[in-house]
Amino acid sequence: MKKNTKLYETVAAMMAPGKGILAADESDASAGKRLAMVHLPNEPENRQDFRELLFTAPGIEEFLSGVIMYDSSIKNFTDDGVPFPDVLIAKGILPGIKVDTGTVDLHGFKGEVVTQGLDNLAARFAEYYDLGARFAKWRAVITIDEDELPTDAAITMNCIQLARYAQLAQAAGIVPMVEPEVIFAGDHNQAKSELVTTHVLQILFQTLITYKVDLEGLILKSSMVIAGDMCPEQSTPEQVANATLRTFHMSVPHEVGGIVFLSGGQSPKRSTENLNAIAKMGPQPWPITYSYSRAIEEPTLLAWQGKPENIPEAQKVLLHACKMNSLASQGMYDAAADNILK
Ligand code: 13P
Repeated sequence: MKKNTKLYETVAAMMAPGKGILAADESDASAGKRLAMVHLPNEPENRQDFRELLFTAPGIEEFLSGVIMYDSSIKNFTDDGVPFPDVLIAKGILPGIKVDTGTVDLHGFKGEVVTQGLDNLAARFAEYYDLGARFAKWRAVITIDEDELPTDAAITMNCIQLARYAQLAQAAGIVPMVEPEVIFAGDHNQAKSELVTTHVLQILFQTLITYKVDLEGLILKSSMVIAGDMCPEQSTPEQVANATLRTFHMSVPHEVGGIVFLSGGQSPKRSTENLNAIAKMGPQPWPITYSYSRAIEEPTLLAWQGKPENIPEAQKVLLHACKMNSLASQGMYDAAADNILK
């Protein structure tokens, strides 16, 4: 297969040691849920203010290699009129773009969904490339419900969509981040989560290979393998690390450019401790780091509260969260000494 040198350079920059990727890619509706946490209305000005706070934070480039944006934010500007992607590029941070447009019910499969957004995707990739995007994200959602879900039918359809998206991204010179998010909500135990995640990733990589996606020019965005949030038996960081790495070794080809984690609704501290335990298990065939949204944005939002006078403090909290996760990605996070992340 033809070597996609440009894609590999992007992958290497994204996975630079000690750095991670901020997922600031909420749709306008999801951004509203974040703003509601601090009682702010879901208005374009509030969304812009929060993103400006994130992207202009002094020093974030030390800990972030990339930031994922959404259609409305990659086309947005700072108060001074600088396009958001240009703010990031000036700091040496790669702009990324979430290109899926959310999920809809999979007809006939109660409780399961498919992701929308393939229509016109080639044209949208060309536009995003011109705006500076060099990597992209597509999120598929996989739900566990004891014996019933997920069905192979839903997994297969989602994997075919991920493969089609990844082909189109690579054809446009954009690194695809493929995200089959195995949802953490539920009462399933960790063993069930491991079984499902391994199965989903095996089907995903078989499908990507069938459709000739270049695995070296691709990043996997994965859930950690943890018990459901309603399961009475919760997993320790060491259990999470063991199960997650066992899963990857059973399913992720070694050529894959890198693996990043979503936080999935875990608390900021827990997601950082779990990443640290994973990194402590030693070098793996793939570079591994974080790509959190909630675990980084929520403490920042709480410090901000929508007040201009709180921006410097909120940016300090943001920097702290990124720094702790960067340390965790190297197995160097000291949870006991961290009294900021909760
Ligand atoms: P969370 O870290 O909030 O799970 O979000 C990451 C993400 O990109 C989900 O698509």
